[in-house]
This record gives sequence, C-alpha cells and structure tokens, in this order.
Amino acid sequence: MSRQTQAIIHADAVLQNFRTLSSMAKHSQSMAVIKADAYGHGAINVARILQHVSPRFAVAIIEEAVALREAGITVPIVVLEGAHQAKECAMAAQYDCILVMHSYEQLQWMQKCEVSKRPHIWLKVDSGMHRLGFSTDDIEEVVAQNQSLLTNETTLVTHFASADNPDNDFTATQIAAFETKVASLSLPVSLANSPASVNWPQSQAQWNRLGLGVYGGQVSTQSIISSAVQLFPAMTLRSSVIALRDIAEGEGVGYGQTWRAQKPSKIATVGIGYADGYPRHCPNGTPVMIRGQRASLVGRVSMDMITIDVTHINNVTTGDTVELWGENISISEVASCAGTIDYELMTRVSSRVPRIVRYA
Ligand SMILES: Cc1ncc(COP(=O)(O)O)c(C=O)c1O
Repeated sequence: MSRQTQAIIHADAVLQNFRTLSSMAKHSQSMAVIKADAYGHGAINVARILQHVSPRFAVAIIEEAVALREAGITVPIVVLEGAHQAKECAMAAQYDCILVMHSYEQLQWMQKCEVSKRPHIWLKVDSGMHRLGFSTDDIEEVVAQNQSLLTNETTLVTHFASADNPDNDFTATQIAAFETKVASLSLPVSLANSPASVNWPQSQAQWNRLGLGVYGGQVSTQSIISSAVQLFPAMTLRSSVIALRDIAEGEGVGYGQTWRAQKPSKIATVGIGYADGYPRHCPNGTPVMIRGQRASLVGRVSMDMITIDVTHINNVTTGDTVELWGENISISEVASCAGTIDYELMTRVSSRVPRIVRYA
C-alpha cells in the first residue's frame, strides 16, 4: 500500500467559504484569489469548484493563468503582478487575462503593444503598503496620460498592510488615502482582501479579492470577529503511523535528541516530514490528532517523518490516521507553534503530497 500522506481538499468548504465571504459584501463582486496553486490547495481543483460563482480569478503571475487555461478554465483572470516582460502584454490578451499595471515601465510595454493585441488593464495604487503601485499623488496623472489603455474593465486597486487586525487604524488611513485620490476618477475600485472584507466592511467596493478566507484560514486577529464568521478548513493534511516503539525513561528521540522521555513512553513514527511541507520549526508539543485525541510532536521534524508521543492513547497501531491540521487541529494553532502564519503552511505543502478533492 502506498504512503498515506495526503492533503484532503474539502470542495464544500471552499464553496461555502467563498459564498459566506462574498455574501457579506452585498454591493460588491468578489473574486477568488487562486495564486500559488490556490494557496496549496491546487489551483485547478479550486478553479473547478468556484468557476460558476467567482466571476474572475486572481493569480500572481501569467504562468499561473496559462496553466488554468490549459486545464480548460475560461473565467477571466486578473494577474496581480501584471507583466514581468513586455511580451506578456500580448500573451495576456491571448489568454483573456487582465494585467494589473503597477509601474511606468509596464505602461510603456502596453503602449508599445499593438492595439489589437492589448489586454484589459487594472491600475495599482500604493496607498501605504509601499510594495507595488503608483503613488496616490501620481494616480490622477497616470490615468490622464494613459486614457488609450483604459477599458470598461479598468479598475483601480490597492492592497492593505494590516487588514487582519481590526485594532490597527492603518487600514482606515489607507482607505482614506486611496479614496481621496480616486474619487474624482470615476473608475471602479478594489480594496478588500478577505481579512479586510471581514474586519473593514467599509473597504468593500466594486471588487473584493478573497484569498485566505476561502481556504478557511484565520482572517481576524480578534477572536470575536473570526468566530462570528464561520469559515471551514478547506484542507486536512493527514498521514499515518508507520512504526511504533516503547522507550524507557530518559531516552532521547530524533535528530539531536531534543526531547527526552520523562517516563516510559510509546512513540509513534508518522510518515510526513519537512520535505512534505510540515514545518521543521514545529517544537515539541505541537498538536496532532490520532484516534480522536490530541497528541504531541516530540523530537525534531525529519525530512520524511515526525515522531509523536502516544503514551496516553490506547490501541495505537501502524496504519492509524494522524491529522496534522484540518478539521480537528486548526492550521492557525500549528502555524503559531511554528512561528509562522496559515498562508505559509498552506502554500508549502509540497508536490509530494497528493491533493485529494472530496465533495461532501
Ligand atoms: C494583491 C492581493 N490581493 C488579494 C490578496 C488576497 O489576500 P487574502 O489571502 O489575505 O485574502 C492577495 C494575497 O496576498 C494579494 O497579494
């Protein structure tokens, strides 16, 4: 029998989360962000699940859009980083993609692109994150100078630095900076990502761009808010016990022997490691679920295996399923143990782990 390490993708959770978040923004249209292989869930899987409810998809780079087209996905795709090279302008039109222009260089590429081969564009505004986009002071002039590139699709887009934190007023500052400068331009706008659409409803505009929340990640630092919006984990990462041993008090486990048994202990070895995307930074005590009970990671995460302490659980046998995160163990809890965020854990599940899409 093959290794039982799998990422189960819950299609109903993906669909329901998208519906929940988009229905919170009644006056907006929402698109699913499926860049980075849909945050590790499989872009083609997620596109197939959402293609009839998400009127656009967003990806980071054109290669991601091309892969979706080759899989038969026809929904228009917004490419959030726009073109990385001049030739991607014509390519975007060919693949029915909308390029987000964030620099003068990209606009020059567009101006040089044959008119019949130009794609639709959006324009990115830097409202304070200082990563990509035209400054709020320059955007009026950018629009004025590039009228020939604008179409009925053209939307002004900005991105938030701290929208997951409802106590951080910087989001309000960004909204104000953006709105002041774009109000007179009479173009559609797009501000909210999934944390903003939950924590900052005033940022919901013509288009919302929903990523993490669609996958059931934690969209608010405030637990009252995150528990009020019911989102379901879209991925269960699971593996199985491949070996069991009893060790005596004082024995060390794994590389560097970073955990030692305080009493005679039963150790289960599980077939998943950092080469699968389970974070090497997870410390002793990181939770897993086995036989309906929580157990703790003990010893260092190896490339292909982890070890867990199952002393307190009866009848553990090889082949038993172990949940690393998903329906019972929240990915946010594991992320916090590993000193990282849900986004990183989701996107790092490696290609060695088969994604199995489950409907219901
Ligand atoms: C420009 C842009 N919009 C939207 C999103 C989606 O954000 P989230 O996953 O927080 O909903 C991202 C994700 O990083 C992004 O870079």
